[in-house]
Amino acid sequence: MKKRVVALGGDGVGPEIMEVTSEILRKASFDLEILEPLHGEAAQKLGKEVFAEEVKNLCLQADAILFGAQGGISRAILDFLRWGLDNFVNIRPAKYYLGVESPLKDPHGIDFVILRENTEGEYPAREGELSLLAQALPEFKDRLEKKFSEFGPGKFAVRVISEKGVKRLAEYACIFARERKKQGYPGKITIVTKSNVLTQSDGLFQRIVTEECQRNTDLTYEHFHVDDAARRLVRFPRSFDVIVTPNLYGDILADEAAELVGGLGLAPSAVIGGKKPYFEPVHGSAPDIAGKGLVNPTAMILSAKMMLDHLNMKEEALALDRAVAEVYKEGKHLTPDQGGKASTKEFAQAVLRKIH
Ligand code: IPM
Ligand code: MG
Repeated sequence: MKKRVVALGGDGVGPEIMEVTSEILRKASFDLEILEPLHGEAAQKLGKEVFAEEVKNLCLQADAILFGAQGGISRAILDFLRWGLDNFVNIRPAKYYLGVESPLKDPHGIDFVILRENTEGEYPAREGELSLLAQALPEFKDRLEKKFSEFGPGKFAVRVISEKGVKRLAEYACIFARERKKQGYPGKITIVTKSNVLTQSDGLFQRIVTEECQRNTDLTYEHFHVDDAARRLVRFPRSFDVIVTPNLYGDILADEAAELVGGLGLAPSAVIGGKKPYFEPVHGSAPDIAGKGLVNPTAMILSAKMMLDHLNMKEEALALDRAVAEVYKEGKHLTPDQGGKASTKEFAQAVLRKIH
């Protein structure tokens, strides 16, 4: 049975990277049915609905969804893909491909994965007037005994870390690290929090992931505070295997990790665990370079590779990964962010030619 994929480019550079990625998947004759319904920025320009009910239903009936980028217009789509589908784990690999330009003196062998909790923490934003909080919690005091009412006008943001939310991520992380271990990786989980300051919320996150790791005696684990982890990513990038962290730290560290292995143009993700998996680049909609053929589509292409892997199309995933690796190794058809002169389409065509 052909797997059905809904491809939603979204906004900004999203539609460009999606167009070339869908073309690769089609021309490589992978056994997929790819649907590209009107949505997002393109729909808005035509005076149509940004996220029509039919498009949502297509997503619900598909085997997987590819998403390009969200630049404000497609916000509701991203909200649906994350919270509507309850996709709680955001898998963000940082793997160095030979030939890629990195700011590090020696990026060779960098190959780790960030598992970002994807539904809680500071997202999807619970904010408001400080005065409201002062009214709701008149007696609440912080560690230094200060009440909300003492700040004067301002805003608050609430961060939520639930037991269930951490537990399901921790369980997944152990399965994920074990699968990697079978492929020769160390089987090590690095928990990243700021539990020295956020002793309750991050303390809970750290405790639940630690307990899960302790139950999985074939794995090893360690914990770093997020500031320390940010430094270690640059200093000891090869010492990481699987990083498990709350939502916002994962967001930030994933951009840092992307830079180590060539930049945002190359960083893919898989967002799974809920009703339907979806796959998107780590980068945003980059409106400054949209429509110019300048964007590096690698992140989208590698997100499609992660999708193939998830759909159990292992050979196809491998073929696509090898093709990308060969294009970088050869270095003849690279996009401007990687010091080349190739357009988005030329890069994608080079990848297609390498699929065998
Ligand atoms: C990401 C992005 C999003 C996030 C934005 C577009 C809301 O930065 O996927 O990393 O913060 O999660
Ligand atoms: Mg981000």
